[in-house]
Amino acid sequence: MNIILLGPPGAGKGTQAQRLQKDLGMVQLSTGDMLRAAVASGSALGKQAKDIMEAGKLVPDELMVGLIESRIAQPDAAQGFILDGFPRTIPQAEKLDQALAGHKKKLDAVVSLEVPIETLVERISGRRSCPRDGSVYHIVQNPPRREGFCDLCGASLVQREDDKPESVRTRMQAYEASTAPLKDFYARRGLLQVVDGVGAPEAIEAAVVAALKPR
Ligand code: AP5
Repeated sequence: MNIILLGPPGAGKGTQAQRLQKDLGMVQLSTGDMLRAAVASGSALGKQAKDIMEAGKLVPDELMVGLIESRIAQPDAAQGFILDGFPRTIPQAEKLDQALAGHKKKLDAVVSLEVPIETLVERISGRRSCPRDGSVYHIVQNPPRREGFCDLCGASLVQREDDKPESVRTRMQAYEASTAPLKDFYARRGLLQVVDGVGAPEAIEAAVVAALKPR
């Protein structure tokens, strides 16, 4: 099964993608994580993306499409994938269709996680991430076993550069202007499933899994 997780910053896309990867064996393809790895490695892509990401703006479509096209062609994506953070614009969605058709793959569902703005802000301000393996925590809602350190690999957790209030405002605006229209785009094709993203992560995962079942 190949699915997209849609939702504004802090909606829980990464959290749910990691859970689904573990429980259903699909691979998480997070463009945010890919870009952060590129920035950390100092690659050409990372150099182009760094300032754009820190400001909370969208990285140009042409860079993103190339990145995801090569990723879905890799062998582990054959077992099914969860797109987390891609597509984010209508042109990205159209290019994704072409890339999937070229690999004889298709989308099975698009799940939109719906969360009110005050909850998003609260989640983002408490988020801590593992720079090594991408694990996501929250200082209150989902703390690591040992404060400040990743449960899985032991690395020191960090707060993302783009989680400062000014960047968060820009990210929310970018979501509303460029990404939210994808809900209509996929609803017209009968692929959209809307899931309440408020509640315990395990309850939300159960709702996502239920939404993926054929009707
Ligand atoms: P990206 O990394 O994709 O960021 P985002 O979409 O803003 O989403 P977040 O990672 O902030 O939130 P999330 O929904 O994954 O929530 P999470 O699970 O972490 O992109 C970053 C940047 O990269 C973009 O701004 C852009 O510059 C660039 N970029 C990436 N893809 C791009 C593309 N396709 N095109 C152009 N540019 C692109 O959860 C948030 C917090 O809440 C965590 O602390 C978590 O522990 C907690 N939490 C999660 N679920 C729950 C729950 N149920 N209850 C309580 N707490 C919860």
